[in-house]
Amino acid sequence: MAAPPSIAPETYWVGVNDHETDLFEALWPLPYGVSYNAYLVVDHKVALIDAVKGHFLADHLHRIRQVLPPGKSVDYLIINHMEPDHTGAIQILRSVFPDMTLVGNKKTLEMLEAFYGACPPCRQVGDGDVLDLGAHKLQFSLTPMVHWPETMMTFDATTGVLFSGDAFGGFGTVDQGLFDDEIDRELMHGEMLRYFTNIVARYGKMVLKAVDKLRDVPFRVVAPTHGAVWRKDPSLPVRLYERWSAQETDPTVVVAYGSMYGNTYRLAEAAARALTERGFTPFVHDVARTHASFVIADIWTSKGLILACPTYNTGLFPPMETLLAFLENKLLQHRLLGLITSYAWAGGARKALESFAERMSLEVVEPIVDVKGAGTADDLERCALLAANLAQRLSA
Ligand SMILES: Cc1cc2nc3c(=O)[nH]c(=O)nc-3n(C[C@H](O)[C@H](O)[C@H](O)COP(=O)(O)O)c2cc1C
Ligand SMILES: [Fe+2]
Ligand SMILES: [Fe+2]
Repeated sequence: MAAPPSIAPETYWVGVNDHETDLFEALWPLPYGVSYNAYLVVDHKVALIDAVKGHFLADHLHRIRQVLPPGKSVDYLIINHMEPDHTGAIQILRSVFPDMTLVGNKKTLEMLEAFYGACPPCRQVGDGDVLDLGAHKLQFSLTPMVHWPETMMTFDATTGVLFSGDAFGGFGTVDQGLFDDEIDRELMHGEMLRYFTNIVARYGKMVLKAVDKLRDVPFRVVAPTHGAVWRKDPSLPVRLYERWSAQETDPTVVVAYGSMYGNTYRLAEAAARALTERGFTPFVHDVARTHASFVIADIWTSKGLILACPTYNTGLFPPMETLLAFLENKLLQHRLLGLITSYAWAGGARKALESFAERMSLEVVEPIVDVKGAGTADDLERCALLAANLAQRLSA
């Protein structure tokens, strides 16, 4: 195995790349895999910062051994985040390094016990506390709910590395390149947006608090638990997470449609075409065929959203219902909605979409188009009118 890359003096990446898990959290597709990043600071005392998912212990341990100087062991395991993708390996790690002290805040230590049983030796740390390793001083900053209640960040003032936990992370393995200056920027950006929207988006307000707390921290490297390590442009992931957390959008539109027999599709197509003619070429997604993971990512950066859905057993076509449940769970805000629905007898989809808009306090752009059967030329015209009105709002 190649020598673990150094991300700063005496600081090594000892994480793992996962190409085997097909769905993160058993929900989100991983076409480019995912990494569980862990780091080892080798000083008078040795600290491991975060661990990995249980199945990947062998590679993790091998990397740790590659950089551990002879006669040294791991003295501390700093747990920035308790989620099992970073702690699954703890029990076996402890049997390998029996004197290793587990370091976490009050909530971490409570959770540790709930997941892995009694945890001594362990050390409770609070906001601002410092762990002295020798030359390296590790400072802890509590950032609750930047994914779970116990999440915190660790800053090494000696090297300027910020170990940020899930914050500023992305999907995609790091075997083609670990650092932001080594990997495909566009791919990384897309996989980061997907990670943010799929995993962290609900906690945007807490991310903004964490970002505020970082204002006076002189970090030079950002080392998250997933995805690239940022050494060339360490403020970029912070700016991106800030923008996404604040739900700042571009003047773009997503047309998300479901269609069993093509009737609703033709209505969605008319709206999409009219948008393109006005310079707002939309992202068009078939909600039954494109996984919500990707649709949500496009929706997150777009101000406009047209939902086109047939009535299905008095309600919404189920894949649309799933998408909307995710958007509601992620607390989507500040979007302009266009609604297109279809039915054959009593309808129902229109009412369900209107109720979604109302629950989420999202503005609906006129006209709402509700079509019986295949739709007439006039119905297609109304879809184009809706698109024109939306384009006008986006240009304003
Ligand atoms: C399984 C199924 C269930 C449906 N349930 C309803 C319903 O409860 N109420 C209604 O008015 N139309 C219902 N419809 C009719 C569709 O909403 C209508 O045919 C619509 O045009 C389908 O659009 P599509 O061609 O885009 O799939 C149902 C259709 C199917 C196939
Ligand atoms: Fe997490
Ligand atoms: Fe994670």
